Amino acid sequence: MTKAAKKLFIRTFGCQMNVYDAERMSEALCEAGYSSVDTPEAADLIVLNTCHIREKAAEKVYSELGRLKQLKSARAGEGRATTIAVAGCVAQAEGREILSRAPVVDLVVGPQSYHRIADLIARAEKGERDIIDIEFPEGDKFKHLPARPARARAASAFLTVQEGCDKFCTFCVVPYTRGVEYSRSVSEIVEEAERLAASGVREITLLGQNVNAYHGEGENGAPSTLAALLRRLAQIPSIGRLRYTTSHPRDMSADLIALHGDEEKVMPYLHLPFQAGSDRILAAMNRRHTRADYLDLVKRIRLARPDIALSTDIIVGFPGESDAEFEATLEVVKQAEFAQAYSFKFSPRPGTPAAAMENQVADEIKSARLQELQALLRAQQSAFNGACAGRKMPVLFERSGRRPGQLVGRSPYLQAVHAEGPETLIGEIIEVDIIGAGPNSLEGNIVSASNTRRIGGRAGPGDAGGRVEAR
Ligand code: 5AD
Ligand code: SF4
Repeated sequence: MTKAAKKLFIRTFGCQMNVYDAERMSEALCEAGYSSVDTPEAADLIVLNTCHIREKAAEKVYSELGRLKQLKSARAGEGRATTIAVAGCVAQAEGREILSRAPVVDLVVGPQSYHRIADLIARAEKGERDIIDIEFPEGDKFKHLPARPARARAASAFLTVQEGCDKFCTFCVVPYTRGVEYSRSVSEIVEEAERLAASGVREITLLGQNVNAYHGEGENGAPSTLAALLRRLAQIPSIGRLRYTTSHPRDMSADLIALHGDEEKVMPYLHLPFQAGSDRILAAMNRRHTRADYLDLVKRIRLARPDIALSTDIIVGFPGESDAEFEATLEVVKQAEFAQAYSFKFSPRPGTPAAAMENQVADEIKSARLQELQALLRAQQSAFNGACAGRKMPVLFERSGRRPGQLVGRSPYLQAVHAEGPETLIGEIIEVDIIGAGPNSLEGNIVSASNTRRIGGRAGPGDAGGRVEAR
């Protein structure tokens, strides 16, 4: 079989950075002669791009590998080879252990080695076994990945600007799986953004585990801030919308807050995890902010941008969390009023300080707390969505909906919006009358597609609340 005929399938678990990484791996492998297919059954090379953040996420990989073992041996019986690679954060965290637990795996590659993935796969295909590359190399893997190819792209794209984390929250594996904080240079990011814009992208979401700690080299050689980077990217004419995630409260600087008030292309949406409402638990989590710091920050952000939709991450059942401490979490939610939120039961992760703490909370208690919290978050989300009915807002249409003639897009607040309209509007930012609101999406009527095209756009003030999801 020639190289050009080989088929690639990547299954991605976990966060948006993994979605971005999958695109970069796919582009690197396509340059090496692969073409993408939609199912593992059709593929010669299967990459599992994994997540290690909670136990459930990591375990999914092993059940998937169980299924792939059957596929691989059935094909071997037909004389057809299959290469199986494990990438992502489970690869980084477990390395060699994956090979002993799942011998079906040919190769393990960590997130800092994706620029070498094509070579590693070529070695595996030549018959080399037990290949592991989980180094944290000095320097910039992004510089060694092929430039983003010019090809038709969806209206909205991710762009990693910062990777890794130096915060060391005691529950979190990220500093171990993604390493220390690293920021790409402004010029490298601008070049990538311009390539995305030239491929039809209208909205870019900047990604980083701690994105607002961004401090990459600026175009003048001095370190840049995230706010300065966003202002620079806002100059790209066809980019109508900018977003960024995930931010740490400690790094929410005054210039970034001000940007939400005066840069039209920066969308009125902010994902700002607070994790827990009790100061004792926040200290045990090593969050480096208090409940008052967080609520004060929310106030300052809303002063700059009154209609901003806030999103957050919350953990229930951190070791030692009492009923009263859990109540403090509910209290913060009530005061902050979230448009959407992700909430989780604490999951002890090997190697993190919190996993070794005494007073682990029983699973039934965690479940009951999560239920109570999610009911509150759902109510806030419905209230936020409900308050959007009757308003007019710009929507970036991204794809066709399930019903014929239906389009699906995003509001400035990241809500899904359904509206009837022609497919030619995909990739356009159009004014929409919101006529209905459900718990997870909005229904709208396109005002007039011919003369309402907008870039960026901002809706009037007066909202609170959005989607509740469990990741
Ligand atoms: N248990 C539960 N949730 C966790 N998160 C990170 N580590 C853990 C853990 N050990 C959550 C945090 C973080 C989000 C990405 O995942 O809320 O912000
Ligand atoms: Fe993990 Fe976020 Fe804390 Fe960093 S700031 S350790 S990524 S939870």
